[in-house]
Amino acid sequence: MELLLGITILSLFFHLSSSAFTPNNSYFLACGSTSTISLTSDSPPRSFVPDSNFLRTSNSLTLSNPNASPNSPTLYATARAFTEPSSYQFTLDIEGTHVLRLHFFPFSAQNHDLSAARFNVSALDRFLLLADFAVPNTSTPIIKEYLLWVDTGELTITFTPNSNSGTSSLAFVNAIEVFTAPTSLLGNSDPLSIAPSGNINQLQRQALETVYRINVGGPKVTPANDTLWRTWVPDDDYLLSKALSQVNSTTRISYSDLDSAEVAPQLIYLTARSMNPGSMVETNPNFNFNITWRFPVTPGYSYFIRMHFCDIVSKTFTALYFDVYIGDQFAQENLHPADYTDNLAEAFFRDFALDVPTSQQVLHVSIGRSLSKTTPQTANAILNGLEIMKVNNSVGSLNGTFNPGSVPSQDNKKNLVSPAVLIPSIVGGVLLIILAITALVFCRRRRAKPVPKPKESPVSWSPYRAAVANFIGVSSKSTDGTAPNASPNFNLGLHIPFAEIKSATNDFDEKLVIGTGGFGKVYGGTLRDGTRVAVKRGMRGSRQGYPEFQTEIIVLSQIRHRHLVSLIGYCDDWSEMILVYEYMEKGPLRKHLYGSDFPCLSWKQRLDVCIGAARGLHYLHTGYSHNIIHRDVKSTNILLGENFLAKVADFGLSRSGPSYGETHVSTGVKGTFGYLDPEYFKVQKLTDKSDVYSFGVLLFEVLCARPVIDQRLTREQVNLAEWALEWQRRGQLEKIIDPRLEGKINVNSLRKFGEIAEKCLAEYGVNRPTMGDVLWNLEYALQLQETELKREPFEDSVNMHSQISVAAVGPSPSTTISIDDEEGDGMTRMSEDAPDITTTINVFSQLVTGEGR
Ligand SMILES: *[C@@H]1O[C@H](CO)[C@@H](O)[C@H](O)[C@H]1NC(C)=O
Ligand SMILES: *[C@@H]1O[C@H](CO)[C@@H](O)[C@H](O)[C@H]1NC(C)=O
Ligand SMILES: *[C@@H]1O[C@H](CO)[C@@H](O)[C@H](O)[C@H]1NC(C)=O
Ligand SMILES: *[C@@H]1O[C@H](CO)[C@@H](O)[C@H](O)[C@H]1NC(C)=O
Ligand SMILES: *[C@@H]1O[C@H](CO)[C@@H](O)[C@H](O)[C@H]1NC(C)=O
Ligand SMILES: *[C@@H]1O[C@H](CO)[C@@H](O)[C@H](O)[C@H]1NC(C)=O
Ligand SMILES: *[C@@H]1O[C@H](CO)[C@@H](O)[C@H](O)[C@H]1NC(C)=O
Ligand SMILES: *[C@@H]1O[C@H](CO)[C@@H](O)[C@H](O)[C@H]1NC(C)=O
Repeated sequence: MELLLGITILSLFFHLSSSAFTPNNSYFLACGSTSTISLTSDSPPRSFVPDSNFLRTSNSLTLSNPNASPNSPTLYATARAFTEPSSYQFTLDIEGTHVLRLHFFPFSAQNHDLSAARFNVSALDRFLLLADFAVPNTSTPIIKEYLLWVDTGELTITFTPNSNSGTSSLAFVNAIEVFTAPTSLLGNSDPLSIAPSGNINQLQRQALETVYRINVGGPKVTPANDTLWRTWVPDDDYLLSKALSQVNSTTRISYSDLDSAEVAPQLIYLTARSMNPGSMVETNPNFNFNITWRFPVTPGYSYFIRMHFCDIVSKTFTALYFDVYIGDQFAQENLHPADYTDNLAEAFFRDFALDVPTSQQVLHVSIGRSLSKTTPQTANAILNGLEIMKVNNSVGSLNGTFNPGSVPSQDNKKNLVSPAVLIPSIVGGVLLIILAITALVFCRRRRAKPVPKPKESPVSWSPYRAAVANFIGVSSKSTDGTAPNASPNFNLGLHIPFAEIKSATNDFDEKLVIGTGGFGKVYGGTLRDGTRVAVKRGMRGSRQGYPEFQTEIIVLSQIRHRHLVSLIGYCDDWSEMILVYEYMEKGPLRKHLYGSDFPCLSWKQRLDVCIGAARGLHYLHTGYSHNIIHRDVKSTNILLGENFLAKVADFGLSRSGPSYGETHVSTGVKGTFGYLDPEYFKVQKLTDKSDVYSFGVLLFEVLCARPVIDQRLTREQVNLAEWALEWQRRGQLEKIIDPRLEGKINVNSLRKFGEIAEKCLAEYGVNRPTMGDVLWNLEYALQLQETELKREPFEDSVNMHSQISVAAVGPSPSTTISIDDEEGDGMTRMSEDAPDITTTINVFSQLVTGEGR
């Protein structure tokens, strides 16, 4: 049994890591065609099938292009045309982001001129994708691409001919693609907002339209060279001054993990533009100039901008720093590829969000030299690829102002979640978790050998989401009585034999102790492969803390994030409870704030640390489809690594948050005095807002550099949260800040910071911002510090409020695995809550390639 399970798990692992992306749901329709059209040149190849089974109308026309030459692509030789509102309907049994592509190629046939057609297209009865659309009369097909979030159920696409333009108006379409996007595509980190606007909350839930998809410095990439059948066009038409840049290329790049290959294909990263020194030697000896691309955009919409980078020009890994501007503002200063990758020539991307003002019709994207981090000799900047997506406006439209909610709806209002799909997946999920745990317990001694060093993942990649999706995908298929496969989430490769740990810590040498906590001692050590680690050894033999131990293994082995301390392994041989983490060189944040003689952290460093910690918590709360509450946010649980990179540690108390429909989890109070959410304390209702409260206390601790409870002080000063709030409300926060920061904080930055902390400490959780809001506002505070913007106080405050109201959309749907030990008997029970039943829709993007096949 043991052996069998082991083999199954291993082979599953192997299978998953070697297989290419295949969408769970995919529909490729050749509209109006009576036969299947195979596109064998696509990679992977696709077959477009006749559309009649997906049509929800009895009144439509089938048109054939009389001029179609036998050797032209047959996808565009036929069309489906409509004279009245008509829909296509697709059944999708997996929730998530879906790609929708619509192909249009007008021709004249049977007395109908398709180039005269004018129509609206809407999706899910909720998003207007195209308004009063007239297909340009070109010789190449027009392809529009969208990304839509679809909950399990039906995706309806409605075509509505416009009657006001004449009696014989038509709507038509030549081909439709609908398929599930890989979970890594949109990831789960929200884009960095370009202040003071540009907040896209819950990016995945927005309707996005791909407007530009550019292979910078490279050739056109076609569906034959992209596993998601995307088209990437060269940048020449958008580049402002060609002479300022040069094209660099390479033959090999790497990805930080397997899923990343789906985000953009290799071909995109193999070429880049960099700064051309030759062009400027005489006129600009400081080498201070920008490479700029210019894109026409629709005023008044928000845009999501993804920039792809891969350092193929530097000689050394850490050499490159450059500045990125979007919309003529700083998007990121001193962008440093080494912050996001482990090697030269490793791909990564950065996401940004920007509101285009109503007065502006073009968007500039620029890269240029970092003035603070480089000399004219070392200056350079790169860009490999660029995607620009339009975000639906507040009425759900991507084109026009019409509210598609009033689209005449078809008789297709079906129950969106079919219980037939849901129940097996729940049962399967529970079964699977139980099995995985069993496997974890039974196999732990078998898998002792190589200790894989977990890779740090760049902020916006989400390698582990795919694993979760697998898990759900597999589970729904494993209810037919066959042996279910265990999930790769419970990484059995993490077990480390006791002997190895003993040797790494020099037989638990007291000299190597770097910390002591309720759980036991923490030792610094070095594994045989040279990896520096922190070894946390629980008090031996006692069952106390065993549930926390298990929680930490389960939680940490599933999630990886740049701002969460990674678990490298664990050991439970001989009833030991040992957890092995990545080594955090600079130790806990608290030590750098007070009570030691470490050098004083600058304000910028402190903001960076808070931002990092906020990112980690934001990820815990919203990422990875579990929402996890940390429950013990404090300055000793924020650890600092090299370059003061902050990571959140200690998940021993964490547990999954409420799932949709529940507002809280009730539980015995745990946490640390001084940081405890009073609401949680009073009513024992745990929500992620309890972490927000603790984080607010932490913010004041960072600002004032004193313990959160200090009994030596006068009564009103003992509790930092109360004391600081008092001064914040008086508008005199600067009176109690760390004296070493006096005169070094920009007043606007301080005001913003105080506001954020105050909001976090709101008495009731509902009034507190989400970690996402906190994060954006901290980033803004950092920008205020760095750029010393002169703003009216009024303006910043409005910004804060509007972000909070946008955020109040509600918990994102999730499949929550909760680990229950209410009885306190050390037994871990698992349950899986049902996925969110509400239908929230996310529209993706629209792509104008002006070209097809
Ligand atoms: C589109 O082009 C075709 C031929 O190029 C022409 O016959 C037709 O009239 C054009 N339609 C419109 C609406 O301009
Ligand atoms: C793109 O795909 C085609 C067909 O698979 C292949 O022949 C071609 O070499 C690829 N192009 C590049 C640049 O890899
Ligand atoms: C980048 O390209 C330019 C010319 O296109 C070349 O002179 C330079 O050496 C290249 N740099 C690298 C690192 O390949
Ligand atoms: C680069 O572009 C940004 C944004 O448009 C601008 O503020 C900056 O002055 C430019 N730098 C140079 C050297 O032109
Ligand atoms: C896009 O539409 C959704 C659903 O209608 C809405 O919740 C969201 O706020 C819209 N996005 C923006 C940026 O207004
Ligand atoms: C709607 O789309 C058309 C073409 O697809 C474009 O020309 C027009 O500017 C768009 N209008 C808005 C308000 O987005
Ligand atoms: C199509 O969209 C336009 C622009 O929003 C709207 O004015 C018009 O009423 C819509 N037409 C139909 C038939 O729904
Ligand atoms: C679909 O299922 C496969 C395994 O069958 C999995 O690898 C993939 O991540 C799933 N995709 C989504 C979007 O759930």
